[in-house]
Formats: sequence, structure tokens, C-alpha cells
Amino acid sequence: MTEPTTASSGSARPGDAAWDPRQYAVFAGHRGRPFADLLARVDADDPRLVVDLGCGPGELTLGLAQRWPNARVVGVDSSPDMLARARELDGDGRVEWVEAAAEDWDPTESGGSVDVLVTNATLQWVPSHLRLIPSWVAALAPGGTFAMQVPSNFDAPSHRLMREVAARHARADDLRPGLARAQAVAQPQTYAALLLDLTPDVDVWQTTYEHVLAAEPDGPHPVLEWVRGTGLRPVLGALDDKEREDFLADYEKELEAAYPRKAYGVIFPFTRTFAVARTPA
Ligand SMILES: C[S@@+](CC[C@H](N)C(=O)[O-])C[C@H]1O[C@@H](n2cnc3c(N)ncnc32)[C@H](O)[C@@H]1O
Repeated sequence: MTEPTTASSGSARPGDAAWDPRQYAVFAGHRGRPFADLLARVDADDPRLVVDLGCGPGELTLGLAQRWPNARVVGVDSSPDMLARARELDGDGRVEWVEAAAEDWDPTESGGSVDVLVTNATLQWVPSHLRLIPSWVAALAPGGTFAMQVPSNFDAPSHRLMREVAARHARADDLRPGLARAQAVAQPQTYAALLLDLTPDVDVWQTTYEHVLAAEPDGPHPVLEWVRGTGLRPVLGALDDKEREDFLADYEKELEAAYPRKAYGVIFPFTRTFAVARTPA
């Protein structure tokens, strides 16, 4: 697993395909499970200010508003397309949707100290997050909670094969930086040590989900559909139509062998790292 090393600022990544809320929603049920597991460890009764950093298309953020009906809930994301979908879903305007990159977002500008700061499946796109986490924890109210979840599957066949196919592609040199950036996740003990330096109440764990994905015999491979909405974006955006077609044909062939289709579908193991830290009351 690659440790975060590079600083980055802003969110407009030349070369990445834009976030597509529809593609991302294809596996919404599977993607929602880790969020529920993360929030199950957040013990906050009546927070005043709740922030979802990297809120995406908003369904899960709206769930925070339901759980804490008295809270002011803010969803922050760098993607205008994701935020547009979130605003569509939030017909009543319950949540404040803010367009900002995590690297530039200043929690002190939220108009109060944050009681719960959630960031789910986002920090893998923020290579400088180890440097940012202390400032986010410092901005919490007394007794406040920081809760994060990141994928830890960069050595899984889905991502190893993506790198291998990219390495033998005609545009290999152009694909490498985007793929390296999209795996900026640290080891669980790194998050534990970082957070324990800030507060004694820290809970870090890792879980592997055995997702069973439906697979039509002649349809696209479901693991390809999954990564299309997330980790494959740097590849998709860097290639022209023909180059992309060649890449996808080669990659899908590898995925078929690594994740064979069965009558029940495809088993897609997915490891994720969770960390919850609470400041003293
Ligand atoms: C995999 S989605 C997760 C969305 C949501 N948290 C969920 O769990 O469904 C990652 C989100 O992070 C956002 N994102 C990526 N880089 C970001 C950055 N530097 N700052 C803020 N948001 C970012 C993307 O726009 C996208 O909505």
C-alpha cells in the first residue's frame, strides 16, 4: 500500500474523468454498508454541527440529517456533478451543500465548531490527508467525533490488474501518475498513531466485505462497472475513445479470470479501513 507522500491542492485533476453520480449509484447498496458500519461507532446524541467531507451524491449525508434531526448538516465535495445530484435529492433543502476541495476546506468557516466530522470513501483521493487530519480534529468541539473510512484494496486483483494493464498500454507513462494518486491510503496503524497523538479515545479497524455482485452472462463484468465509478476514473479521463476501448477490453479479460462469474454472480472481496476519534468532553 502506498503511503501518502504528495501534497495536492484543489480538486480539478486534469486527466481524470468527471465523477458520474449515476455510475457511482450502480452499487449504492454495497457502498452504503461501510458508511453504516462507520456511523455505528459514532456515539453522538444531539450534535449541533455535522459535516460530511466528500459527501458525493448526498444519499448518505441525508441519512445523517435523519439520524440527527436537530443538527445543522453540511455536505462538502469538490465535484459539481455530485453536488448537483445531492441538491436534487434534497428537495427540502435540509442540508447545506458546499463545493470545496478537502485540501482547501477550512472547518472554522463552518460557523461553529464541528461536533461530528464524517469522511467516507474520500480521503484516498486526497494524498495530503495525513497532514490535514490534525487540523480537522483540532476544529472539533469538546466531545466531538472524527470518523473516516478509506478503501484498502489497492493490492487486490481489481487494482493490481488495473496497474498491470496500464503498464503495458501504449500510454503507460500518462496513466501512471493518476493511478498512483488514487491509492494514497496509509496503513491502519498509521491512522491509529496519528490520532492517538491527538486524543486518547481512538478506534481503528479493518473489515473485508465479500460483496456478491450480480453478473449477467453477456453483460459487462461487474467489477469493471464498480471501478468505472471510482478508481478507474484517472485512466478513463486520460485516454481517447480508441485507447480507452483497448484498455477496457484488456482489463475486462483479466477481471473475468480473477473474478469468475458463477450462477450467483461474482464475489468481490473489498477491504476497508475505519478510524473514529473522539476529543475529550
Ligand atoms: C467514492 S465517492 C464517496 C462519496 C460518499 N462519501 C459516499 O460514501 O458515497 C468520493 C467523493 O469524494 C469526492 N472528492 C474527491 N476528491 C476530493 C477532494 N480533494 N476534496 C473533496 N471531495 C473530493 C468526489 O467528488 C466524490 O464525491
